[in-house]
Amino acid sequence: MVAWAFVAVAEDAELDAYTGLKMSDNWELVRNNCIACHSPKLITQQRGSAGQWLNMIRWMQAKQNLWQFDPDTEQKIINYLATNYPPQDDRRRAAIPLELMPPNPYAPPSQQQSQQPGTQ
Ligand code: HEC
Repeated sequence: MVAWAFVAVAEDAELDAYTGLKMSDNWELVRNNCIACHSPKLITQQRGSAGQWLNMIRWMQAKQNLWQFDPDTEQKIINYLATNYPPQDDRRRAAIPLELMPPNPYAPPSQQQSQQPGTQ
């Protein structure tokens, strides 16, 4: 029951008109810390688990001059991101099976398909 109410709130959250961020718990922390260097779309188009979001933050801290957060703020930011922009399975189509792909003219000779299309 509690979990259901939580999910419902996350899905119904209104979007902030300026950033497009879902205005659920702690969204202001993300607005205040995450849009100085790039468009908020980079965030709203991204999906990830808590661990994946944390990795992105660690990468920006290591390579892009993102500042350090105190642990409480960081945890709230991660929770917000993983709750509102969680991993999704259906955002990319499945890979096309190799046998349905056309022959690759750039493949090394060892991997060239000997068959011509349509001769199977
Ligand atoms: C100090 C600057 C800076 C701040 C602040 C910043 N980022 Fe970034 N971020 C970057 C840069 C630079 C890139 C790479 C942009 C590009 O590839 O065009 C990036 C890329 C990203 C990406 C794309 C990663 C990918 O793999 O494609 C996401 C998502 C992201 N940031 C989220 C965030 C979040 C969430 C915050 C707040 C916690 C944040 N950023 C704060 C500099 C910053």
